[in-house]
This record gives sequence, C-alpha cells and structure tokens, in this order.
Amino acid sequence: MKIQSVRGMRDILPEDQKYWQFAQNLFDETSSSLGFSRLIIPSVEELSLFERGIGEATDIVEKEMFVIAAKSDDNATLALRPELTAGCVRAYIENGMKSKPQPVRLSLFGSAFRRERPQKNRYREFYQLDFEAIGDEKALWDVYIIYSSLKYLERLGLKNIRTTVNSIGCRECRPSYREKLIKYFKDNVDKLCEDCKRRLRTNPLRILDCKEPACQGLSKDAPKMLDNLCPACDEHFDYVKSSLNNLNVDFEINPQLVRGLDYYNRTVFEFNQKADTGRQSSLGGGGRYDYLFEMIGESPTPAVGVALGLDRIVNALKENSIEIPKVETKQILIVGTPDTVKQCLGASNKIFETTALTPLYFPQETAIGKQLELANKLQVDYAVIIGPDELKSGKYQLKDLKTGEQKQIKPDKLVELLS
Ligand code: HAM
Repeated sequence: MKIQSVRGMRDILPEDQKYWQFAQNLFDETSSSLGFSRLIIPSVEELSLFERGIGEATDIVEKEMFVIAAKSDDNATLALRPELTAGCVRAYIENGMKSKPQPVRLSLFGSAFRRERPQKNRYREFYQLDFEAIGDEKALWDVYIIYSSLKYLERLGLKNIRTTVNSIGCRECRPSYREKLIKYFKDNVDKLCEDCKRRLRTNPLRILDCKEPACQGLSKDAPKMLDNLCPACDEHFDYVKSSLNNLNVDFEINPQLVRGLDYYNRTVFEFNQKADTGRQSSLGGGGRYDYLFEMIGESPTPAVGVALGLDRIVNALKENSIEIPKVETKQILIVGTPDTVKQCLGASNKIFETTALTPLYFPQETAIGKQLELANKLQVDYAVIIGPDELKSGKYQLKDLKTGEQKQIKPDKLVELLS
C-alpha cells in the first residue's frame, strides 16, 4: 500500500521556503528588538497540562487533542501540544523564571497539533509564533502584546489588518454575567444549535462565538460582558482602549469575541485580514491569562500573550502578492570530468571557504556541454570549467551564465576574481 502524508498534515516545499524564512527571520528580528527572549519548549507534554490549562470543556481538549497512547515512565499520559502557551507557563515555573525581573518576555516558535477538519488555513499540524509577557498584571502589557503583534504584521507588509478587542471580565464579575447569559439563552433554547445546547451547560460564553446563523442572531441581542464589568475590569479595559488610541492603533470592539481557550480573563483580541469576513481564519489571537497558573495548581501569576499562525501568514503573503526581499546568494556550478575530480573538489572548497558564492559540484560523466545545459536549467549565475584541456593549459574557464561572457583564469586567481 502506498504511504501518504497523514490527513491534515503537509510538506512545506523548497519553493515556499522564501516565504517561511522571510516571516521567521522577521519574527526573530522583531521579537528581539522588542525585548523578547527566545524559548524553545518540547512538542510533547503531559496531557493533564492541557486538560487543566486550556480547559476540559474546550473544543481543543474535548475533540482535537493528539493523545499519545504510550504511557511515559511515570505513567502520565502524553499529548502533542495543541498550542504553546501552557507549555511556556510550565517552562517558566520549572526553570525558576519567577526570580527574574518581571514580566519575563518570551517569544516562541514551533508547531502545534489539533485534530480539526482540514481545509485551507486549517491544518492538523500548524506553526505558531508567540509573544508572551509573564508576571505583570498591568494593562500596559496587554497593549504591548497587541502593539508587538501589529508591528510584526506591518513589517511583513500585511496591510488592512482588522484588530478586534473585548474584555471577558474576571472572577468577580463573570459569574453573575454568566448567570444572565444562561437565563437569556435558556429562554431561547429552541433556537440554539445542538452544540450550543451542550455549551449552555459546559461553557455558555462560547455560544457567543458560534458560527451557526441562528445562534449568531440570538447572540447579537444577548447581554454583553462589557456592560457587566466590575470597576477594576472596567478601568483595565479603559486603559487598554486609551493606550491603543494613543498609539494610533485602529481597532474595533467586538463584544462577542470570547476565544476558544478557558484560560483567558479581561482583555482578549484577534487579528484578521479585513477582506476575511468570518472569524474562521484569524491570523492570530491572544489575551490575558491571569488564572492559568492556578488552573495547573501553581501560585497565581498574571500574564498576557498572543499566538500568530505562520501558515496563515504565509498564505496571506502570497494572496497579497507581497514581494519577498531577495537574499542575494549567487551560485556557481563546477563543471569537470572524471579526470579532474580532485581539482574540482579543491576549487569548490576554496569558493565555499573564501567567497559568498554557493558552489555546486556533483561529479558527472557527461560531456562538458551537457553540464553547461544543466547549469542553465539550475539557473546558476556562473560556471567554472575544469576539464582535461584546462588542466593542460593551467587555466580554468569562468563563464558568466547571465551574460554568456567567458574568460580564462589562473586557478590561484579564481577566488580573487569571484570575491
Ligand atoms: P488560538 O486562537 O487557538 O490561540 O491560535 C492562535 C493562532 O494560531 C490562530 O489565530 C491561527 O492563526 C493559528 N491556528 C490555530 N489553529 C490553526 C490551524 N488548525 N491551522 C492553522 N493555523 C491555526 C492560541 O493558540 C493561544 N495559545 C494564543 C495565546 C498565546 N494566548 C496567550 N498567549
């Protein structure tokens, strides 16, 4: 039987690498110039970290986890990470980052796994770029995370980004709001989809986020968290809004934005392309997660962060025909015969060590003319010919394949000229 890639997982091919490298390099540059330090965490964690951290009643944990059947040494069940934040928090605790100046600003890059229904922009293995600021409760950091995300998207050349923000309150104000919401939806339960009937028991706020037209219609008139915030949450959200205005950030308030992970409180936000009408393919999203530490049994620590979806960013770069700056690495093909392998290898090594050119040498038995045809196919910039005639004359031939110009050159002058 033919072996194929796993459903929803894909290869990122060489022809696409320019987009991926451009976006990754820019993320590295932007995150370090904004004061974030890189953290790399494992792809596998204990399942309970995600169950407790992300929430058992979320779609991610309930339906989309890749649980690893084998038990680990200490009998914990393992899972492929569906996102990076829970693992980042685990790493912060385990590595004693609490003793550093707070907040600790971390940037992460890596793949995440969710068993979702595969379609464009929705993969079962996808890549996330995270900014996390852990250890400070001030609204300033919510703003800094939104600002950092937008600076990155702007540097990529992605314009027309819609930034939506909301506040989902805290444990002071959310319970009474939740009751109001349950009452409202209970009074209209016949109109809810089957999933939302279940959410009414497990996670009523998520009904606000449902994509079913009937549920959306109902949600529009539902009580709003923003009208029910406690004074502290109100003040926090006011700070976020006024600081974003001060920074000239164009944003919209969407009272129905609740996000799909349980760890959020207060500020939540998402970034979409303006042309994208649904919220099905957001470029990124995040929010404050002051309770995540407690959810996994640790002492309370405030935090805020974002994840941007690299797969979707690359698709957006292509759809918007964004010009990727060319990294100028010129290639030179070393053309020889079986008798001149030693000289060809020597030249290749010299070019590699002393010039900025990329030497390509694959010993061939075909005629020199055929190899020059190959050079054209590979679209290299230069060819250096080292055949028996060249050995006899003591001079190599250097050909500029873009202009067709060809000249003889002494071996010891080759790299000098190429440099
Ligand atoms: P999230 O909204 O679940 O948040 O995912 C963030 C981004 O990851 C999405 O906006 C999207 O671009 C990308 N993404 C999610 N699922 C897929 C998929 N199946 N295929 C392609 N791209 C996808 C989080 O993951 C939170 N950890 C964000 C966060 C960080 N909150 C605080 N810190």
